[in-house]
Amino acid sequence: MQPDAPILLFDSGVGGLSVLGELRKILPQAPVIYASDQAGLPYGTKTEVQIATRVAGLLGRMSERYRPRLVCIACNTASTIALGMVREVLEVPIVGTVPAIKPAAAITSSGVIGLLGTAATVRQAYVDNLEREFAGGKTLLRHAAPELVDVAEAKLRGEPVDRATIHAAVAGLRSQPGGESLDAVVLACTHFPLLREELGREFGPEVALIDGAGGIARRIADLTSGQEFVRSGPDRAITTGSAEYLESLRGALEEFGLHRFDRF
Ligand code: DGL
Repeated sequence: MQPDAPILLFDSGVGGLSVLGELRKILPQAPVIYASDQAGLPYGTKTEVQIATRVAGLLGRMSERYRPRLVCIACNTASTIALGMVREVLEVPIVGTVPAIKPAAAITSSGVIGLLGTAATVRQAYVDNLEREFAGGKTLLRHAAPELVDVAEAKLRGEPVDRATIHAAVAGLRSQPGGESLDAVVLACTHFPLLREELGREFGPEVALIDGAGGIARRIADLTSGQEFVRSGPDRAITTGSAEYLESLRGALEEFGLHRFDRF
């Protein structure tokens, strides 16, 4: 293992930064490459086959080029669909991001949990299985809010957050039978914790917003424990999209410690 081998975090856009933020807290010394597949954004409105082939292909090529010590699919949509396939193709350890239904089920008092994700995530059998395993006897309300992905992307470009879109996403859960009793909501898209403040204001203080970023960061730390980390240059952001895309996000990317920008 080269001490400067990076941890590669992968998402369709800026969502994985919510995972990177948690990773920085516990592994600040780890060299990181943050990869956003902007040319494929959004994933949430694509088919399972499109997502799986795209993600497996890209991660294969990125792993060959950058030789990461570990790959984190910092995207619920890609993880719930392609995790198994990517693990078959790559030899490096892969950490996925799956909806945090287990911790939400553990803290709810009312027994009514919400789940906000992309359209592709909320229909996955993977989510059905998590519900069956961890939320038996509870009610899980699901709502697809793909428009929040755009709002999060815009926020990180420094644009104002569209309050009407936030309101509509929250109403999508609240208006379902039992929705008035919600006390825990799973943010099942890595873009959504970037809107935690705005969503929290709209749900109100009695609703806990839960995401998996902290747990994922701890899993990465466990899997790399005892390894040597040496940075041979600035951490970088790469994209399948345009240089302008990264440039428009410069301020946010730099806040997350990403100082070199490249196209993939
Ligand atoms: N950040 C991705 C996720 O966690 C979704 C964004 C997209 O639709 O591309 O699901």
